[in-house]
Amino acid sequence: MGLLHHKLISGGSGTHRIMFLHGFPLNGKSWAAQESLIDSVESILIPDLPGFGLSKGTDNAMSIDLMVDALFDLMDHLGWKSCVWAGLSMGGYITLRAYERDPSRFDAMALIDTKSAPDNDVGRIGRSDGIRGLRMNGMEAFASGFVNKVLHPQSDQSLRDHILSIILENDQAALEHALIAMAARTDTTDAVKNCSVPIRFFVGEGDTLTPPDVMQTMQDLASGSRMVTVAGAGHLMPMEKSDEFNQAFRKFVAEL
Ligand code: MLT
Repeated sequence: MGLLHHKLISGGSGTHRIMFLHGFPLNGKSWAAQESLIDSVESILIPDLPGFGLSKGTDNAMSIDLMVDALFDLMDHLGWKSCVWAGLSMGGYITLRAYERDPSRFDAMALIDTKSAPDNDVGRIGRSDGIRGLRMNGMEAFASGFVNKVLHPQSDQSLRDHILSIILENDQAALEHALIAMAARTDTTDAVKNCSVPIRFFVGEGDTLTPPDVMQTMQDLASGSRMVTVAGAGHLMPMEKSDEFNQAFRKFVAEL
């Protein structure tokens, strides 16, 4: 697969290293508004997950575990023994699986608009519908359907256009492989229950994919954790309400 393409911002005045993992079907550019958090942390690492953005090379099958392998390789390459993992949606699925495999790589985790439960049968069948739609109607139709589904109804057109342009930078094959990877993912609820590093949950109040009540159920399992709910945002909350998210994230990091 090769080393993941990534953006590394170093030299911040804080003490923590943060790795932001993007959701499906985005890429690392979706964290642009979080780069300013370098004023509160030591380093920010933003990979393009396998197949997405400039991390090419998904000619072969993909799974959440293979994505974790790629992230562990990247951390080893950079000499990062541990960091704060911050995963949005698919990035959260990866974060929780990575924690199950090697908790020593974690200083803390931020779970953003995500869940620990696997797909049920309806969800799995929906993944095939997604691939069929991609093949029949192409990337643009898929991307606009996704954006309409995930954003808060009040989000403005420029944000919609920006997210569409990020999605359209990706290869269709990457999306197809990631859909199968997400359909095949395991239940990581035990990782939430047994987590021994600080967890903070973040959710957009209007997230319909991983809604606040689903995240609340997870938060109830994680002793000592807290949840931040951001009004006026949907599933891509850190992009939709970046100032509110960044402020809450700074607070989280300051408390570590
Ligand atoms: C994401 O935002 O990463 C996806 O919507 C997650 C999913 O489809 O399960």
